Amino acid sequence: MKGIILAGGSATRLFPLSKAISKQIMPVYDKPMIYYPLSTLMLAGIREILVISTPRDLPMFEELLGSGEDLGIRFEYKVQHQPNGLAQAFVLGADFLNGEGGCLILGDNLFYGQNFSAMLQRASSIERGACIFGYAVKDPRAYGVVEFDSQMNVVSLEEKPAQPKSNYAVPGLYFYDNTVVQKAKELKPSARGEYEITDLNKLFLKEGTLRVETFGRGFTWLDTGNCNSLLEASNFVATIQNRQGFYISCIEEIAWRNGWISSEQLYNLGRRLEKTEYGQYIMALVN
Ligand code: DAU
Repeated sequence: MKGIILAGGSATRLFPLSKAISKQIMPVYDKPMIYYPLSTLMLAGIREILVISTPRDLPMFEELLGSGEDLGIRFEYKVQHQPNGLAQAFVLGADFLNGEGGCLILGDNLFYGQNFSAMLQRASSIERGACIFGYAVKDPRAYGVVEFDSQMNVVSLEEKPAQPKSNYAVPGLYFYDNTVVQKAKELKPSARGEYEITDLNKLFLKEGTLRVETFGRGFTWLDTGNCNSLLEASNFVATIQNRQGFYISCIEEIAWRNGWISSEQLYNLGRRLEKTEYGQYIMALVN
């Protein structure tokens, strides 16, 4: 399966910061925000990744991530001229996917928790249909919302409902089979003028091939859409890293643990950053 990171713009709640710099390049504690969704794709075993962003910001991602060779990954880049909706990622990514299934992750979503890798590997091995997730939040009105029956079968999906039918928000992480491009092309813009990811998911629901897995309350999903949630995410990462000594979303470490780069390559990546704690952490992994 291939992966797509959507790191473009939409009505951002981070103005005026986002006037100067792409939101997904801003740091969440000690690393650029995009490292967090990137690490999720890597944990799913995905090595071919398309980064989609605005004409202004795409060159910054290219400079930051390059070809991916250093990490044993292959990156491609594609412009989205207007923020016309999340489902457009699959129309823009049609050539890149080239008949394969795809996983989409939003450039501002951070996931962290035990057994996450196993969940990701299960989701990325689907051959037919789609796999999305549900996560209980206090106020789900800003999200896609999934409703379950008493057996936890999916009953409905709604985008930003004023009166949510459950507390389960749908995080920005979606796995689809190879019918996704065709389905994305069939979508019509919603009332707010966007090609909605929720409408795409509804096509799989109608077909009877949508699986929704729930994350438990011990799991962390944060999106960093406004200044408070950005600060909360930074504090969260700092708290865990400083307490445990293990880094969250260190992409070099994950590439190494996946066997995509050697210990020597890892050490050299760390040495380039040896004046930082991040670089020292990487070097210490192989010492
Ligand atoms: O975070 C999860 C939620 O993401 C889901 O629960 C919702 O179903 C889904 O619609 C989406 O809701 P948001 O309100 O968070 O979407 P937003 O328009 O803020 O876009 C999410 C990110 O994707 C944001 O960083 C900007 C980027 N984006 C957005 C659009 C619409 C793009 O790169 N291109 C776009 O066309």
